[in-house]
Amino acid sequence: MSTSSSTAAEKDFKREFLKIVFVLFGVLLVCFSIFIVNHRGNNKYIIETLELNGSAEEGDALFKINCVGCHGITARGLVGPDLHSITLRLNDKEIIKQVTGGLTPPMPSFEIDPVNMSNLLKYLHSLE
Ligand code: HEC
Repeated sequence: MSTSSSTAAEKDFKREFLKIVFVLFGVLLVCFSIFIVNHRGNNKYIIETLELNGSAEEGDALFKINCVGCHGITARGLVGPDLHSITLRLNDKEIIKQVTGGLTPPMPSFEIDPVNMSNLLKYLHSLE
């Protein structure tokens, strides 16, 4: 009698345990998929941007609209740092992440299409 009831409890426990493992596995799978999709999206954007050959003049205009408030009209720095020779310190990929990522507040993240991002990069390179 006591043996059979303990086996039943054991079975219940096993079933609960399997359920938890199953749910955890599902959650992990979802997180992993989101990570992969995000990563591929980012990479696609970066690859597309780097394939373009932007225009420094267009980039200059973009900079005057979006960036001078913090980086100064000549990009010599204000709230944000001096951006002259930034392209010697950061590679293009890192600059793209800086501009689109919003990882260093107070600098906001910019939603900027690959063509304009490429123009901005060209402008920043012209500051060397
Ligand atoms: C609201 C203010 C603000 C605006 C607008 C802004 N930035 Fe920034 N930016 C900052 C600050 C502050 C930092 C320094 C962040 C840190 O490293 O803590 C920074 C850092 C950077 C860096 C990295 C500098 C380094 O030395 O590592 C780059 C590149 C940059 N900004 C480019 C841009 C560009 C291009 C734009 C316009 C599209 C822009 N920023 C607009 C405030 C701003």
